[in-house]
Amino acid sequence: MVSKNIENALNEQIRVEAESSQIYLAMACWAEVKGLEGVANFMYSQSQEERDHMLKLIKFVNERGGHAHVSELKAPNVTFKSFQEMFEKLYEHEVYVSESINELVHISLQEKDYATHNFLQWYVAEQIEEEAMARTILDKINLIGNDKGGLYLFDRDIEQLTINSAASTGTV
Ligand code: FEO
Repeated sequence: MVSKNIENALNEQIRVEAESSQIYLAMACWAEVKGLEGVANFMYSQSQEERDHMLKLIKFVNERGGHAHVSELKAPNVTFKSFQEMFEKLYEHEVYVSESINELVHISLQEKDYATHNFLQWYVAEQIEEEAMARTILDKINLIGNDKGGLYLFDRDIEQLTINSAASTGTV
């Protein structure tokens, strides 16, 4: 059974994951209309992953005797000045999500809710990976800058990254 405090905190995280999914969906659309198909596919796949993160939390809350809430979401940014700016936003957002998960872990320890604490470890590990990936991509895009040829190759590479990561998580 989750306490009211934990239930509220988990519901807040459900909102964060849902908003993340929308943020990446908007990035996917922007990349798609700009003609970078690889980047768009990467973002569509990130958006789907965030939805899965949300669903995992929803199931947990409901299974533990709470009630998962589906809430109104803040509209995401739909345009960007550059791909560089878009990937900066992606990285910053993942750092924010990590902080949010850390806070949840902190609350679960305060409340001595070890079941929730244990459940959250998956998110802690996931955030390490997501932050590292966002950092790597940002470093690459910073090197490329506005070079069109570089961007073309980057678009091809990132598509490969999407295929590999989907294969390793068994989603293809
Ligand atoms: Fe679910 Fe990328 O955080």
